[in-house]
This record gives sequence, structure tokens and C-alpha cells, in this order.
Amino acid sequence: MTGRSPRVVVIGGTYVDMAVRCSQIPSSGQSVAGSALSYSVTGPGPNKAVQAALCGCEVHLISKVGGDSFAAMARKSLAEFKVNTEYVCVAEAMNTGVVVTVVGSTGENAACFYSGANSALQPHDIDAGEQVISDADVCLVHGGLPHEAIVQAIRCAKVHGTKIILNPVRPTESRCIGGESDGDLPMEYFSVDILIPNLCEAAEITDQSTASIRTAKLIGSDIVARGVKYAVITMGKRGCMVVHRDGADQIPAFDVELVDQAGRGDAFAGALAASCAVGDDIRQAVKFASAAGALACSKFGSVEAMPTKAEIIELLQKEDIR
Ligand SMILES: Nc1ncnc2c1ncn2[C@@H]1O[C@H](COP(=O)(O)OP(=O)(O)OP(=O)(O)O)[C@@H](O)[C@H]1O
Ligand SMILES: [Mg+2]
Repeated sequence: MTGRSPRVVVIGGTYVDMAVRCSQIPSSGQSVAGSALSYSVTGPGPNKAVQAALCGCEVHLISKVGGDSFAAMARKSLAEFKVNTEYVCVAEAMNTGVVVTVVGSTGENAACFYSGANSALQPHDIDAGEQVISDADVCLVHGGLPHEAIVQAIRCAKVHGTKIILNPVRPTESRCIGGESDGDLPMEYFSVDILIPNLCEAAEITDQSTASIRTAKLIGSDIVARGVKYAVITMGKRGCMVVHRDGADQIPAFDVELVDQAGRGDAFAGALAASCAVGDDIRQAVKFASAAGALACSKFGSVEAMPTKAEIIELLQKEDIR
């Protein structure tokens, strides 16, 4: 690596979370008084981008927002985390994606999300960011976007030799987020360097009705046989399974006190991209990512819960001493 910072491009949905606190979550037909309201930028794009930036990377986010006031709020907030939003484009006639969350007194919550402008991300929006994809060490893509845009991102990264990591959603879920789909993932998804599904996503991708730690290796081998270099199947507090052509390794999770699981998958993916961007091997990168995923579980919130590089290193060192 030369003297420059590692570079990561994140392509993922941007949302603004409107969270209302109340004594209890209202049931159908009921109305309760709220006690506090907060707005924060969230979503697979911002969360992953902030995590990579906190790990010391130069980060660009490619995403789409609406022509409303939430868009400016999202940009301002991302800039505070040093995420470049030059390629966050605008669908003037649409709304920015929103999540409306109701949080009860014991931390339980209910949420409804509206994808808004995220469902209108087009291949030409990806083309607009071709230069930053080409200049990046790693391009990290989330699956909750129209297939056409994701396929374009994969093609663009491959043309420029940029390492590509894809964090897919369940094929049945991706059908709901813009564009037509027959429930199968496009074949380009299997040409990426690293695919990081959780266990349920991995099972659905490989047409298995159930999945367990015991079958994770088999499911990972199926994904690798389709062309992916590394399948990293995440399994929450049970750690993750890394499968490649020559075998499989189970990486245990770090032991942390669970406070709020929001954002754990994004922390894992953002930190994995940051570690790969400095040239770490897959085992080192997955360990680093696992520490980030665990730390995100130990704090409230999503973007606010992403750990810094120093916090991740501290947890890794603590574990080494044991
Ligand atoms: N309770 C936990 N304790 C320690 N580490 C955890 C815990 N939950 C998650 N992790 C770490 O984070 C990684 C990703 O978590 P998980 O498998 O739950 O992702 P996910 O289901 O994709 O989450 P999300 O819904 O946020 O996308 C795990 O492989 C693990 O390393
Ligand atoms: Mg996930």
C-alpha cells in the first residue's frame, strides 16, 4: 500500500429514521402519547459507509434520495461522519426513504419502512460514479436495491479490477424493492469476490428450506460452486462460517453484553470492506469484522452504534490476551 488512505465505495439504500419513544407500542386502533422524537440517517448505505469511514477509509456513498428536506439532513449527517455524498443522486419527484420506528419503555420497537427514492436507483446512477468505483480498493454493495443497479455496479467494479463484496437480501425480499424478479438472483451476483449473507439469506439463495450451523458449510460450498470466491455466512452470536474452494473455517463471535442488535450486519460488512481495503487476508478481515459486529450490538442505535477502529482493535487485543 502507498501512503494514501484505503478507499471504499459503498452502494446501498439511504433512509431517515424517525423514532418516537412512548410508554408502550400502540396496537391497531390505539393511540398513545410519545415522550421524545429523534431523526437520524440510517440504512444499509449510510451504516456501512460510516463504519468504513470510522475504520480510517476514504469513503464514497452511491445512493439515491428524494427531493425533500430529509435529503439535506441525510447528506449533512453523512458529511459529519466524513462520508463523501457527491454521488448520492436525487429523484426530485420522490421521497427519501424513511423508517418510522416506535420504541417502547423497555426498548422493544416496531417499525415500518418506505423505500422511496431507493427503489429508483438506476444503472446510469452507478455509471455516474464509475471513476470512484475504479479508484476504490473495495466496492461494497447491499442487495436491497433494484437488481439492474446492482448488476451494473458488479460489472463496473469487475471492469476496473476493484474487489467487490456483496451483502445480499433474501431473494423474496429483493422482489419487493423495485424492478421485476422471478425470485432468483442474477448470475452476476455469484461473480463477486465475497458474498456475505446471513444464515437465512444463504438458505434462501441456495433453495434450502432450513439452515443450521451444521448445514452452513454445505450451503457455503454451494455458493462457492456458483462462482463466488469467498462465502461468509454470518450467524449472529454463533459467529460466522467462511467457505472457499479449499475448505471452510468457523470464526467464533466475540462475547459482548447485548444492548441493541440494530446495525450489526452493516458494522460487520463495513469493517470487512475496510480490512480488505488495506490488504488483510480473509481470516484477518472476518475477525476484524466480527469484532465490529459484536461492538455494534453493545450500543443503542444503528449509525451511532458503529464502533471506531480503536474500539475494534481494543476488543481484538482483549481476545488475544485470553
Ligand atoms: N449477539 C452478538 N454477539 C456477538 N457478535 C455478534 C452478535 N450478533 C452479531 N454478531 C456479529 O456480527 C455478525 C453479523 O451478525 P448477523 O449474522 O446477526 O447479521 P445480520 O443477520 O445480517 O444482521 P442485520 O439484520 O443487521 O443485517 C455475526 O457474524 C457476528 O460476528
Ligand atoms: Mg444483514
